[in-house]
Amino acid sequence: MLVLNGPNLNLLGTREPGVYGALTLAELEARCRAHGAALGLQVECFQSNHEGTLIEQIHAWGLAHRSGQALGVVFNPGAYTHTSIALHDAIKGVEPLPVIEVHLSNVHAREAFRHHSWIAPVAAGSIIGLGPDGYLLALEALARRAGLRSN
Ligand code: DQA
Repeated sequence: MLVLNGPNLNLLGTREPGVYGALTLAELEARCRAHGAALGLQVECFQSNHEGTLIEQIHAWGLAHRSGQALGVVFNPGAYTHTSIALHDAIKGVEPLPVIEVHLSNVHAREAFRHHSWIAPVAAGSIIGLGPDGYLLALEALARRAGLRSN
């Protein structure tokens, strides 16, 4: 499984800690890897500030899923959530790769421009506002979808 983080999430820990918390990206990724290991799954992590690089990751994981080598992607697209039809199309283009959209903050309780997501209509589901726990819950949901966990 892939944990994919988009723009500015490399700044976690120092970026608006009142909104995003004090955990760094490296700590968040370590938590995801440990949680994956507890589920018996290998978790890879990747972050990019570039839309095209994120698209290429989704394409690569779509191919890996098609050949039975990947279960799915946990994706926090950052601000691209609200702007990127290209990411929407990338996820749509690699169906049935399951992509779960995650946001640390409750975007619906914030500025109006954060209320719309181009990712939500093509995501398997969205987990919003639960902080780092959202990533862990998304990993569990992917494991369950793949039939690796039943309770
Ligand atoms: C975010 C919410 C987005 O609106 C914002 O642009 C981010 C982070 C979140 O995790 O809460 O960069 O995706």
